[in-house]
Amino acid sequence: MIEIKNMKIEDYEEIKDILQDQFDEFWTPGILKSELENKNSKYVVAKENGEVVGFAGILITPDSVEITNIVTKKSNRKKGIGNLLLDTIIKMAKETKRSNISLEVNEKNDIAIKLYKKFGFEQVGIRKNYYNGINNAIIMTKNFYL
Ligand SMILES: CC(C)(COP(=O)(O)OP(=O)(O)OC[C@H]1O[C@@H](n2cnc3c(N)ncnc32)[C@H](O)[C@@H]1OP(=O)(O)O)[C@@H](O)C(=O)NCCC(=O)NCCS
Repeated sequence: MIEIKNMKIEDYEEIKDILQDQFDEFWTPGILKSELENKNSKYVVAKENGEVVGFAGILITPDSVEITNIVTKKSNRKKGIGNLLLDTIIKMAKETKRSNISLEVNEKNDIAIKLYKKFGFEQVGIRKNYYNGINNAIIMTKNFYL
């Protein structure tokens, strides 16, 4: 059974050494740690039998909520964990009473784009050459009060 909980420093300690290899090569442990220490950020973990198998986070700004990352452990993908994490952070975002939730995703990341579209996100813009000066970022938004 998968449980979703608020991310604690113990969860960070559990995954920091395998973060880039088994979760997401683009995020260093330092980035995740500073996100956890940011009072405007909120992170959740997905746990299976007590082991961290995914995490996701939001950054709450005065006007909006941004998804900073959502990632499932490589060995546990395609089992519904991404769905659960995204559903949870959308609910957290709604509680902030902001009008929308937004994110940036690499235009080549078809899997994540499919996931976001499934939850009602729409493309609203592009940031050219955002990733490594090569790939464009797609900006996607889901409005809450329309
Ligand atoms: C994106 C990611 C979080 C999805 O996690 P997951 O636990 O495998 O996702 P789920 O099993 O819950 O699937 C959720 C949806 O994602 C999409 N999806 C997942 N795997 C897919 C695949 N191999 N091909 C196409 N779509 C896929 C589908 O829309 C799926 O919905 P469905 O189950 O109704 O088909 C995961 O692939 C990941 O960690 N990627 C690396 C990090 C990343 O790119 N994060 C996004 C940063 S912006």
